[in-house]
Amino acid sequence: MNKTALLTFNEVSFAYADNKNVLESLSFTIYRGDRILMSGENGAGKTTLLKLLCGQIEPTAGTITKMSSLENLREIAYVPQIQQASQIAVSVLESVLLGLWGKNFSFLNRSKKKDRQEAYRCLELVQMESFAKRDLRELSGGQRQKVAIARALIRNPSLLLLDEPTTYLDKRSKSEMLSLISSQAQKGGWSVLLISHDALSDSLFNRVFTLDNTFMKERSL
Ligand SMILES: Nc1ncnc2c1ncn2[C@@H]1O[C@H](COP(=O)(O)OP(=O)(O)OP(=O)(O)O)[C@@H](O)[C@H]1O
Ligand SMILES: [Mg+2]
Repeated sequence: MNKTALLTFNEVSFAYADNKNVLESLSFTIYRGDRILMSGENGAGKTTLLKLLCGQIEPTAGTITKMSSLENLREIAYVPQIQQASQIAVSVLESVLLGLWGKNFSFLNRSKKKDRQEAYRCLELVQMESFAKRDLRELSGGQRQKVAIARALIRNPSLLLLDEPTTYLDKRSKSEMLSLISSQAQKGGWSVLLISHDALSDSLFNRVFTLDNTFMKERSL
């Protein structure tokens, strides 16, 4: 079967301000349906790479070629590395609805019943439904991380990017969450790039990458 390239890095370099390159001449392709586990040392450029993938920053040199459907950034969901404590009063359910931002929900209108039901369903998937009405600011770090994942799931994205999504989770939640992400991705036909330092079960992924600024090493499974 022919693999469809979703996204390709062509000799991409990136430097913050006038500093030296964080990523240098990096080339790799993500195919549709890939479930990729990426690791690498602190400062290797993993978070920077995810920011390039979701369009938060642009390459300093080189190009990123995207399948036309991915040009629409709405097709990408990004779970950032550190879950900042929210400063504004927002319920857990509302914060999941924020995942629909730019997709099928306008903040000028009230959220639709269907959207709220879907947000509730996503909270159930991460076992946080009993917190739906709570203030997001009252949650623990691990609970906030689960809600952030629910916020990504509700997007039904073509590409799901997760930056160390299980850091704050206990051992049992960790393995449940990874199985959930993997099964939802397979069900929805999503591609996934997940960053983790943990030795995770290879069965959840089809490719394993190690990044070191200039080189993306792929270990064959
Ligand atoms: N906003 C920024 N401005 C300047 N330099 C930055 C910025 N963000 C990151 N860096 C630098 O870029 C390099 C790569 O950072 P990045 O966050 O991508 O690493 P990482 O692989 O995600 O590391 P970790 O495993 O610690 O999360 C680091 O040396 C870091 O200091
Ligand atoms: Mg990082």
